[in-house]
Amino acid sequence: MQGPEDDAGLAGKVALISGGGAAGDGIGNGRAAAILLARASAKVLVADRDLKLAERTVEMIMAEGGTAAAHGGDVTSETDCKILVEAALDRWGRLDFLDNNVGIGSRGSVVDETPEQYRRVMQVNVETMFLLSKHAIPAMIKTAKGGAIVNISSISALRPRGLTTYTTSKAPSSVSRAPWRLITVATTSASTASAPDRCTRPWSMPAA
Ligand SMILES: NC(=O)c1ccc[n+]([C@@H]2O[C@H](COP(=O)([O-])OP(=O)(O)OC[C@H]3O[C@@H](n4cnc5c(N)ncnc54)[C@H](O)[C@@H]3O)[C@@H](O)[C@H]2O)c1
Repeated sequence: MQGPEDDAGLAGKVALISGGGAAGDGIGNGRAAAILLARASAKVLVADRDLKLAERTVEMIMAEGGTAAAHGGDVTSETDCKILVEAALDRWGRLDFLDNNVGIGSRGSVVDETPEQYRRVMQVNVETMFLLSKHAIPAMIKTAKGGAIVNISSISALRPRGLTTYTTSKAPSSVSRAPWRLITVATTSASTASAPDRCTRPWSMPAA
């Protein structure tokens, strides 16, 4: 039986998840967030550079009776970020929530790291948050009078363990302070592995 405490206040709200796919039927952080938001009655635009993986997430959501749509796009491209925000607005007329989930790993010390890989990790893990937020924030203000952004960090930002570039890339989202409602989620491999368990209850999103 559902009580008032089960209402996350997300019914009718619209979420955009970057990297909302996952290999096969696996559960990554983005897919888990998409499923949880849909269970909380949000409408979810699942974005992934591999459209098939986003479509699989949407199938999983629709099998549970949720509302979602898949969209291809590489969030290292500003054009694609703009298109993703527009796609959410075109389909549902508003945007309330952005999950900046995309991120890639990197191993080794400063001495081991190549400049090319360092730049790539910073581009994918940090710049994509800027690019998507840059286009999502005006859309949120215009269509929903505000919203929420979650930047996915990592426990590696707090406890460095030899993944120097990755740790560096995850620190900004751990310390971000902005005149914007911004939530940082630090996840671990263990919590990702147990993501299906986390799908059993939605997190609540602060009211705009
Ligand atoms: N997996 C872990 O153990 C772990 C631990 C802590 C934090 N995290 C963080 O969680 C987030 C998600 O990691 P994950 O392991 O669940 O996901 P993942 O590596 O399985 O990737 C999820 C999806 O992102 C997509 N993607 C990758 N680059 C993209 C791009 N440029 N544009 C659009 N889509 C793109 C992939 O196609 C994939 O479907 C990352 O920010 C990661 O740093 C993961």
